[in-house]
Amino acid sequence: MQTSQWTPQLWLGFEPMDAMNREFMDHLGDAQAAPDAALVQTWQALVNHASVHFGTEDAWMHQEGFATAQQHTLEHRVVLNLLREGLCQAQAGDCAPARQMAAELGAWFSRHTQSLDAALALHMRRVNASRTAPA
Ligand SMILES: [Fe+2]
Ligand SMILES: [Fe+2]
Repeated sequence: MQTSQWTPQLWLGFEPMDAMNREFMDHLGDAQAAPDAALVQTWQALVNHASVHFGTEDAWMHQEGFATAQQHTLEHRVVLNLLREGLCQAQAGDCAPARQMAAELGAWFSRHTQSLDAALALHMRRVNASRTAPA
Protein backbone atom coordinates (compact mmCIF):
# COMPACT_ATOMS: atom_id res chain seq x y z
CA MET A 1 0.00 0.00 0.00
CA GLN A 2 1.22 3.46 -0.84
CA THR A 3 1.76 5.49 2.33
CA SER A 4 0.45 9.01 2.90
CA GLN A 5 2.96 11.82 3.05
CA TRP A 6 2.88 15.50 3.81
CA THR A 7 2.94 17.57 0.60
CA PRO A 8 3.48 21.33 0.10
CA GLN A 9 -0.23 21.69 -0.81
CA LEU A 10 -0.92 21.14 2.89
CA TRP A 11 1.25 24.08 3.93
CA LEU A 12 -0.78 26.69 5.86
CA GLY A 13 1.83 29.29 6.79
CA PHE A 14 1.14 29.01 10.53
CA GLU A 15 4.04 26.99 11.88
CA PRO A 16 2.41 25.39 14.95
CA MET A 17 -0.33 23.95 12.72
CA ASP A 18 2.06 23.01 9.92
CA ALA A 19 4.20 21.11 12.42
CA MET A 20 1.19 19.20 13.76
CA ASN A 21 -0.08 18.44 10.27
CA ARG A 22 3.31 17.05 9.21
CA GLU A 23 3.34 14.90 12.35
CA PHE A 24 -0.15 13.58 11.62
CA MET A 25 0.95 12.47 8.16
CA ASP A 26 4.09 10.83 9.59
CA HIS A 27 2.00 8.82 12.06
CA LEU A 28 -0.51 7.87 9.40
CA GLY A 29 2.29 6.75 7.07
CA ASP A 30 3.79 4.65 9.90
CA ALA A 31 0.43 2.98 10.57
CA GLN A 32 -0.17 2.32 6.87
CA ALA A 33 3.26 0.73 6.49
CA ALA A 34 3.03 -1.31 9.70
CA PRO A 35 2.64 -5.08 9.55
CA ASP A 36 -0.27 -6.45 11.59
CA ALA A 37 2.05 -7.11 14.56
CA ALA A 38 2.88 -3.39 14.78
CA LEU A 39 -0.52 -1.98 13.86
CA VAL A 40 -1.80 -1.50 17.42
CA GLN A 41 1.38 0.33 18.45
CA THR A 42 1.44 2.64 15.45
CA TRP A 43 -2.34 3.21 15.56
CA GLN A 44 -2.07 4.07 19.25
CA ALA A 45 0.60 6.66 18.40
CA LEU A 46 -1.72 8.13 15.74
CA VAL A 47 -4.62 8.30 18.22
CA ASN A 48 -2.41 9.97 20.86
CA HIS A 49 -1.17 12.50 18.33
CA ALA A 50 -4.67 13.22 16.96
CA SER A 51 -5.99 13.77 20.47
CA VAL A 52 -3.38 16.45 21.20
CA HIS A 53 -3.49 17.92 17.67
CA PHE A 54 -7.29 18.27 17.57
CA GLY A 55 -7.43 19.40 21.21
CA THR A 56 -4.89 22.16 20.52
CA GLU A 57 -6.85 23.47 17.54
CA ASP A 58 -10.12 23.26 19.50
CA ALA A 59 -8.56 25.28 22.33
CA TRP A 60 -7.35 27.98 19.91
CA MET A 61 -10.81 28.25 18.34
CA HIS A 62 -12.41 28.44 21.76
CA GLN A 63 -9.99 31.13 22.98
CA GLU A 64 -10.40 33.23 19.86
CA GLY A 65 -14.19 32.81 19.53
CA PHE A 66 -13.62 31.51 16.01
CA ALA A 67 -16.73 31.58 13.79
CA THR A 68 -16.67 28.06 12.27
CA ALA A 69 -15.40 26.39 15.45
CA GLN A 70 -18.46 24.22 15.91
CA GLN A 71 -18.17 22.41 12.58
CA HIS A 72 -14.40 22.09 12.86
CA THR A 73 -14.56 20.72 16.43
CA LEU A 74 -17.33 18.32 15.46
CA GLU A 75 -15.21 16.91 12.63
CA HIS A 76 -12.31 16.43 15.05
CA ARG A 77 -14.59 14.63 17.50
CA VAL A 78 -16.09 12.28 14.90
CA VAL A 79 -12.71 11.32 13.46
CA LEU A 80 -11.07 10.87 16.87
CA ASN A 81 -13.93 8.58 17.94
CA LEU A 82 -13.50 6.51 14.78
CA LEU A 83 -9.74 6.29 15.35
CA ARG A 84 -10.33 5.12 18.92
CA GLU A 85 -12.87 2.56 17.77
CA GLY A 86 -10.35 1.23 15.23
CA LEU A 87 -7.79 0.97 18.02
CA CYS A 88 -10.15 -1.06 20.24
CA GLN A 89 -10.93 -3.41 17.37
CA ALA A 90 -7.24 -3.82 16.49
CA GLN A 91 -6.46 -4.51 20.15
CA ALA A 92 -9.15 -7.20 20.06
CA GLY A 93 -7.41 -8.78 17.06
CA ASP A 94 -9.46 -7.30 14.20
CA CYS A 95 -7.14 -5.11 12.12
CA ALA A 96 -9.58 -4.66 9.21
CA PRO A 97 -11.38 -1.50 10.44
CA ALA A 98 -8.08 0.30 11.18
CA ARG A 99 -6.68 -0.81 7.80
CA GLN A 100 -9.79 0.51 6.07
CA MET A 101 -9.54 3.82 7.92
CA ALA A 102 -5.82 4.07 7.21
CA ALA A 103 -6.60 3.79 3.50
CA GLU A 104 -9.19 6.59 3.63
CA LEU A 105 -7.71 8.93 6.21
CA GLY A 106 -5.15 10.63 3.95
CA ALA A 107 -7.87 11.98 1.65
CA TRP A 108 -9.97 13.15 4.62
CA PHE A 109 -6.96 14.81 6.23
CA SER A 110 -6.03 16.70 3.05
CA ARG A 111 -9.59 17.99 2.69
CA HIS A 112 -9.75 18.95 6.36
CA THR A 113 -6.38 20.71 6.24
CA GLN A 114 -7.15 22.62 3.07
CA SER A 115 -10.55 23.82 4.26
CA LEU A 116 -11.18 23.99 8.01
CA ASP A 117 -7.53 24.09 9.13
CA ALA A 118 -6.68 26.64 6.42
CA ALA A 119 -9.39 29.02 7.68
CA LEU A 120 -8.17 28.66 11.26
CA ALA A 121 -4.52 29.16 10.25
CA LEU A 122 -5.41 32.37 8.41
CA HIS A 123 -7.26 33.62 11.48
CA MET A 124 -4.39 32.69 13.81
CA ARG A 125 -1.88 34.46 11.56
CA ARG A 126 -4.02 37.62 11.62
CA VAL A 127 -4.47 37.45 15.39
CA ASN A 128 -0.74 36.96 15.94
CA ALA A 129 0.15 39.74 13.50
CA SER A 130 -2.19 42.19 15.22
CA ARG A 131 -0.76 41.28 18.64
CA THR A 132 2.82 41.80 17.52
CA ALA A 133 2.14 44.96 15.48
CA PRO A 134 3.63 48.15 16.98
CA ALA A 135 1.01 50.33 18.73
FE1 LIG B 1 -4.84 20.17 11.90
FE1 LIG C 1 -8.43 20.65 12.35
